[in-house]
Amino acid sequence: MSIDDIELPTLRHLLDAMFGQSCFVGVMKRRASRKSAHLSKSMGDICDYVVAYCKDPQHAPMLSVTKVSDTTRPVLNAGNAITERVIPAGRPAKCEDGCYRAGSYKVRSVSFELLEEAIIENATLTNTVRVLAPFRVNQDIINGTVYITSNFGLRRYLMPEEMEKAKVMSDLIDRNEFYNEAGKEELDELFGKSPFDTPKPSDLIQYLISSISDPGEDFIVLDSFSGSGTTAHSVIKINREDGGNRKFILVEMDKNICENITAERVKRVAEGYTNQKGQLIEGLGGGFRYCTLGETLFDADGEIRKEVKFSDLARHIYLSETGEPLPKQNNGRSPLLGVHNGTAYYLLYNGILGDRTPEGGNVLTRAVLAELPEHEGPKVVFGTGNRLSAGRLKQNEIAFKQIPFGVKVK
Ligand SMILES: C[S@@+](CC[C@H](N)C(=O)[O-])C[C@H]1O[C@@H](n2cnc3c(N)ncnc32)[C@H](O)[C@@H]1O
Repeated sequence: MSIDDIELPTLRHLLDAMFGQSCFVGVMKRRASRKSAHLSKSMGDICDYVVAYCKDPQHAPMLSVTKVSDTTRPVLNAGNAITERVIPAGRPAKCEDGCYRAGSYKVRSVSFELLEEAIIENATLTNTVRVLAPFRVNQDIINGTVYITSNFGLRRYLMPEEMEKAKVMSDLIDRNEFYNEAGKEELDELFGKSPFDTPKPSDLIQYLISSISDPGEDFIVLDSFSGSGTTAHSVIKINREDGGNRKFILVEMDKNICENITAERVKRVAEGYTNQKGQLIEGLGGGFRYCTLGETLFDADGEIRKEVKFSDLARHIYLSETGEPLPKQNNGRSPLLGVHNGTAYYLLYNGILGDRTPEGGNVLTRAVLAELPEHEGPKVVFGTGNRLSAGRLKQNEIAFKQIPFGVKVK
């Protein structure tokens, strides 16, 4: 979390209360700008703070900025001269086993020419092959470090001496590329004129993400105050650089910002755009889904709002009960929402069985039970009422949950 001097003490109290003091990792002081944003009575203000908490203090990882980039590195660079290198037999391969024919390959917009057929068996290259490509490292480095990536590209592991350089992250962040001025330049480039005064530069967020994530990890970065979308930009950049598959979730409450700045920026970064000088800037790859939050299901009294449709409540109940999204085959016309781990989930709501009266299709009666799609095994039935005896419920393996009290809010 990033915050200024005034908000810092309150945020610390809040986070200590939420996570527990033992989860506190540290506060990094970031120089946010080249010159003071404003002068207070007695001192200039050029720093803000990055507050770090961890989930499990016993197993908190060492924060190391060199960790991610030091794990693997690219061996090709699109602009370099084309040279020939030998990829020795025995090097690891993360792609599928098989025979890869000699010929041209393009991975993440960098092309190379495989001069011999490459045979991969048991995740290992079995024969020595020559490759023509814009290499950025010499043959000696290739020999001991190169590997074949999952999409049949080339990368390398770090050499031992590079690994040794990895060091724990300090709590002072002061680099030109991490100042907000750099963030503004980035947005000027993307939009002509930056729509934000003090956007954070993507390099800063990338630096922070790289201190806690490895490329291969299933890693999701959440930014609930996304603004100009710097976080998504950083995730896309870092994935592009190290071949990772990190994901992002951004939340922005201002519709105008969200549509015209946040989403637009992420789209331009991912798909490419033409800058102010008319130059075509290539996209970095990746993408996103734009979702709009609907109205809340519950009103202030905890009742389900009258406007809530069957399909909305069905999605909520199925997700909160099973942790899975509502199955696609559910067409909103069946009270059977789906079957999860052998348990069937039913919803009686909005007269799903054709009777809209509260006494009809929304209450579990013997007649309603007879109409429910059959399921051998345990059933969970949500409805506004239940007229079946405890014995009959047990006999039919039904756990009845009353709407709205039985509907989990989270
Ligand atoms: C300071 S900006 C974030 C800037 C961002 N870090 C960047 O570098 O571009 C904060 C954003 O959070 C949004 N915001 C504020 N409160 C929010 C909330 N409760 N839910 C979602 N977005 C919120 C604001 O509309 C604003 O765009």
